[in-house]
Amino acid sequence: MRAEIAIQLATPADAVDIACLSRDSIEQGLPWRWTPARVQRCIRDGATNVAVARQQEAFCGFGIMRYGEEDAHLLLLAVHPEQRRLGIGSALLAWLEEVARAAGVACVRLEARQQNEAARCFYNEHGYHESALRNDRYASSVHGVTLEKWLRVETQA
Ligand SMILES: CC(C)(COP(=O)(O)OP(=O)(O)OC[C@H]1O[C@@H](n2cnc3c(N)ncnc32)[C@H](O)[C@@H]1OP(=O)(O)O)[C@@H](O)C(=O)NCCC(=O)NCCS
Repeated sequence: MRAEIAIQLATPADAVDIACLSRDSIEQGLPWRWTPARVQRCIRDGATNVAVARQQEAFCGFGIMRYGEEDAHLLLLAVHPEQRRLGIGSALLAWLEEVARAAGVACVRLEARQQNEAARCFYNEHGYHESALRNDRYASSVHGVTLEKWLRVETQA
């Protein structure tokens, strides 16, 4: 059964929940770089959207996308472990991509750990293809993969 979820822009009060979920679900085994202060800066940054998913008003996931003129970078995306496989990650991604489309962004890019099979399956399912392998991207022997999705196809005039 699909969960009833609301996707909305984060407020400064969400920064600790977001940073802790990033530390526990994305940055595990690495130094904690996405601290509450850094998340707060993203929430205030006009070129970045921090979206949160709530279920009955309780925080259950988030995504952070930075928008450039031609492309956007999905910096982080995570769902609380107990609420995965309910469509929440898909809803967050769709919301962030919709903003990118409206802004005329051509391509969304992101990176994930090579060993993160769940994320690679999730993004492949959503039309992302793997464009590069980056050895030792996160730490020694912790390789990364770059994924991208083209939102806008250029047509000849
Ligand atoms: C990746 C992540 C955000 C997906 O969130 P989610 O809410 O569980 O994803 P959804 O329920 O929307 O999944 C949509 C589809 O993606 C695929 N998928 C998701 N998780 C998967 C998994 N563990 N294994 C295989 N396929 C998976 C499936 O096709 C799924 O559809 P289905 O459940 O009908 O089979 C979540 O697993 C997560 O938070 N992981 C830890 C953080 C992380 O790795 N983030 C990405 C790198 S920044």
